[in-house]
Amino acid sequence: MAIETPASEATANLAFPELLGTDHVELYVGNARQAAYFYSRAFGFTVIAYGGPETGIRDRASYVLEQGKVRIVLTSPLGPEGHIAQHIALHGDGVRAIALRVHDAEAAYLAATSRGATGIQEPTTVSDRSGSLTYATIATYGDTVHHFIARDDYAGIHWPGFREETRGKESVGVRFIDHTVGNVEKGKMDGCVNFYSEVFGFTVFQEFDENDIATQYSALRSKVTRDMNTMITFPINEPAVGLKKSQIQEYLEFYRGAGVQHIALHTDDIISTVGAMRERGVQFLSSTPNEYYDELREHSAGIAEDIDELQRLNILVDREEDGYLLQLFTRPVTDRPTLFFEVIQRKGAKGFGKGNFKALFESIEREQEARGNLV
Ligand code: FE2
Repeated sequence: MAIETPASEATANLAFPELLGTDHVELYVGNARQAAYFYSRAFGFTVIAYGGPETGIRDRASYVLEQGKVRIVLTSPLGPEGHIAQHIALHGDGVRAIALRVHDAEAAYLAATSRGATGIQEPTTVSDRSGSLTYATIATYGDTVHHFIARDDYAGIHWPGFREETRGKESVGVRFIDHTVGNVEKGKMDGCVNFYSEVFGFTVFQEFDENDIATQYSALRSKVTRDMNTMITFPINEPAVGLKKSQIQEYLEFYRGAGVQHIALHTDDIISTVGAMRERGVQFLSSTPNEYYDELREHSAGIAEDIDELQRLNILVDREEDGYLLQLFTRPVTDRPTLFFEVIQRKGAKGFGKGNFKALFESIEREQEARGNLV
């Protein structure tokens, strides 16, 4: 007679999906051709592949861009039907998928769904002359998904049906994704963090509450989840009650739900990276008060960078026990106040710039006020 194992016990015995790192991030955008120009010209990415009608893909156009280890895919639908068009109509341009590299997509999918993840796409193998690639998809917060991508047997540039391209070779020094942040509705943060710990075995690396991240008017809470093997890091934010509307609530209203708030790009030389991006037209948050840099000058021991340069470029510095980090947020890259990027350089520090939260979030708040959404 078979003995039934309670679901929780069965889950506890199953291994976590074996992750190797981030494969790519896919954005659904209204006009992938123009977005590809923006991200290559302004952000320093190289267009390395293209898939669309010319390569036998009938319903969409996708451009694959790369810089360092960062790979982003920009996809637009060619008509109003289907889930890509619906995603764009609802959310505007935004991140659809954070794709995770694995050796075995089938095993990762089975492990994830057995541990409570909702399956979106069962393991599927696609192939061409360059070999075969298997992928599978699970849901995470909002309409955002994770793909598992197994490409050990695939020698092509990106995906079957894509052709190689080489356009724009003007790197600004971005090396890899430091972290990718999700915004979820009030009260949903802990459930989302539990999802990452139960399904993937991520641990909470740091947490911040409204006492850490509050400006005069608005507040948010954040927990940083991380896979200790690959250092894949997913902080999750939720709005908190303040005197006025949280900037996370503004995001949720304009994105129409939970989604990716920002992608942090790691550089080894933030002055050069931010300088190049500014020259190419990337708009960053600005108007950090002069007092911030006056104070920094007074306590500048151990900081190698020229403070005048940091002030000119509006770069923020945060010290921790193990060192310091330098960071700056872009303004939203979309018309809706939703997705933005961060540029970050770490000099020993492993955290997220807790000391900068006030300055950063006040900058966001000033923009929120200019939009008429700080109410
Ligand atoms: Fe960040």
